[in-house]
Amino acid sequence: MLKIAVSKGRIEKEFCGILEKSGYDVQPIKNKQRKLFIQTKDNMQIFFVKADDIMTYLRLGMIDIGIVGKDILLESEFSNYQELLDLKIGKCKFCLASYANYKNKTLNRQQVIATKYPNITKQFFNNKKENIQIVKLNGSVELGPIVKISDAIVDIVETGDTLKENGLEVIEEICDISTRLVANNKSLNSKNKEISDFVNKIEGGIKC
Ligand code: PRP
Repeated sequence: MLKIAVSKGRIEKEFCGILEKSGYDVQPIKNKQRKLFIQTKDNMQIFFVKADDIMTYLRLGMIDIGIVGKDILLESEFSNYQELLDLKIGKCKFCLASYANYKNKTLNRQQVIATKYPNITKQFFNNKKENIQIVKLNGSVELGPIVKISDAIVDIVETGDTLKENGLEVIEEICDISTRLVANNKSLNSKNKEISDFVNKIEGGIKC
């Protein structure tokens, strides 16, 4: 039995498309309604969870495979997994964003950055040798500069619409993000054949 956790929402829909192209029967996923996990005929259990929680499931050894954004992997302190495939879905970028002239306003003081991703933000500014203060938010991060609790934000940008509609712009691109297939190191020992068969089929599906 292969246990797989998939980020709920957009990634779930796109991954369902990859599963279908890979030859799996996805009707149970399409018909799942409010069910949070399903059992497939191919001996797989698929759990639909919040992206952040995939790392917890991996750490606790509850799943063999996670389908999760690179943003979550980069932010997490858990590293006992292998990244096996770039699924080339959920593509977006990590960006520093604010009002165009924000830097001028922070020349003589420490910048405050609002973000859902404090580890990535710290790393980004450490590399620039800039000492900043972080305000951790869990969503609607773009409000930071608007309500003046931060000078700028570090967040994911996909279409750029949220920034634009809130009067902000990209100041600097940090890195590209996409959805990855990761496997628990423990499972790679105990279910190596099952995992590699699954990965090979998915790889075929991505190429279709
Ligand atoms: C994400 C991200 C941005 C938005 C970017 O938020 O945090 O707010 O999407 O997308 P865009 O560039 O296509 O506008 P999400 O929708 O996940 O909601 P959240 O604010 O609750 O995190």
